[in-house]
Amino acid sequence: MLRVDVSAGQNRYPIFIEHGLTAQLGRLLDQSNTPKRRFFISSPLVWKLHGKAMAKAAPRTEPILLPDGERHKQLVTVSRAYESLIKLEADRGSTVIAVGGGVIGDMAGFIASSYLRGIRLIQVPTTLLAQVDSAIGGKVGVNHALGKNLIGAFYHPSLVAIDPALLETLPRREFRAGLYEVIKYGMTSSRDLFDRIGREIDAIFARKGDALVPIIAESCQIKASVVSLDEKESGPRRMLNFGHTAGHALEVVTKYKRFRHGEAIAYGMLAAAEIGVARGAMPATDRHALGTIIMKLGPLPPVGDLSTKEVLEAARHDKKIVDGTLHYVLCTGIGSWTTAKDVTEEELGKALRKIGLKR
Ligand SMILES: NC(=O)c1ccc[n+]([C@@H]2O[C@H](COP(=O)([O-])OP(=O)(O)OC[C@H]3O[C@@H](n4cnc5c(N)ncnc54)[C@H](O)[C@@H]3O)[C@@H](O)[C@H]2O)c1
Ligand SMILES: [Zn+2]
Repeated sequence: MLRVDVSAGQNRYPIFIEHGLTAQLGRLLDQSNTPKRRFFISSPLVWKLHGKAMAKAAPRTEPILLPDGERHKQLVTVSRAYESLIKLEADRGSTVIAVGGGVIGDMAGFIASSYLRGIRLIQVPTTLLAQVDSAIGGKVGVNHALGKNLIGAFYHPSLVAIDPALLETLPRREFRAGLYEVIKYGMTSSRDLFDRIGREIDAIFARKGDALVPIIAESCQIKASVVSLDEKESGPRRMLNFGHTAGHALEVVTKYKRFRHGEAIAYGMLAAAEIGVARGAMPATDRHALGTIIMKLGPLPPVGDLSTKEVLEAARHDKKIVDGTLHYVLCTGIGSWTTAKDVTEEELGKALRKIGLKR
């Protein structure tokens, strides 16, 4: 079993990764002294697919099921979970085990952070995005009608248990959406990871354990290391935003309906690469390699009808603008990154048109 350690401020916890790990979940929970009063928080779909295996691995754990579409990631849903926990007499010594994608993980984490001012949290991520990104780093929370992820906390799990076998049931589009974040880690931090995805793309899509475990583990390692250096996103953690300025703006102008998050990030990475190349900060061959691998992964939703002007407007409102300055994350060659504070709207506009947006 692979193990990656996260240390963030006072918090230290392990991420375990193994194909088929679910069968050993109970043992892992016991070994890490997880209190015996345990509650799964999952969604009806995920529970239907994997609940039986979870219940077998961790018997006497009460399941609380919440709807997991992005539109349900809000306080009323969280409130329903509080109600269940109160009725089931969950106390300070209880543990919440999140079994689901990023939506369930973010909500369950927020529930654990706030119920009785904080109870133990375990993350069992079931989407690729959750396994390489959202279950690690301690950001938990919900959306507000006026914006995404506006209500939340920093609250770390005491254990993250990653079983890539759970991804076998994941729809291909969801799986690909997570892969774009893996490509992000490669682009910013590891040429080896980037090359591996290209080389093993077929085995990865076939969800073979041998192909998935290494890319998930390296992604976790990269995220864990930046989180450890920088828990609250000022310096090194900025790297995680590669592709996210333009990507987030694309999600906003399409009202979060057209793209899976990772798909918008794929475009965002392509735009960032255009800026990097135009500035002479990134070799054109690396931009080409990025384009090739994104194409290999499959078609992205179209952007030809989207207006550059509107996307720029959305980027201007991005919360990553600190004191009026946009810290644009650029790749300086596959495996390394930097930030630039002087990327102009004109540069970004040009890059957006290059990747296919209209004027
Ligand atoms: N906390 C963080 O640091 C962080 C980082 C990135 C993203 N996020 C959040 O994560 C969320 C997106 O997460 P996501 O992409 O996992 O989406 P998701 O949680 O909505 O899951 C996507 C879909 O896959 C289904 N699903 C989950 N596991 C499955 C499985 N094993 N088999 C079949 N179907 C399965 C879900 O029911 C859902 O319909 C967003 O809300 C985003 O804000 C948080
Ligand atoms: Zn992302």
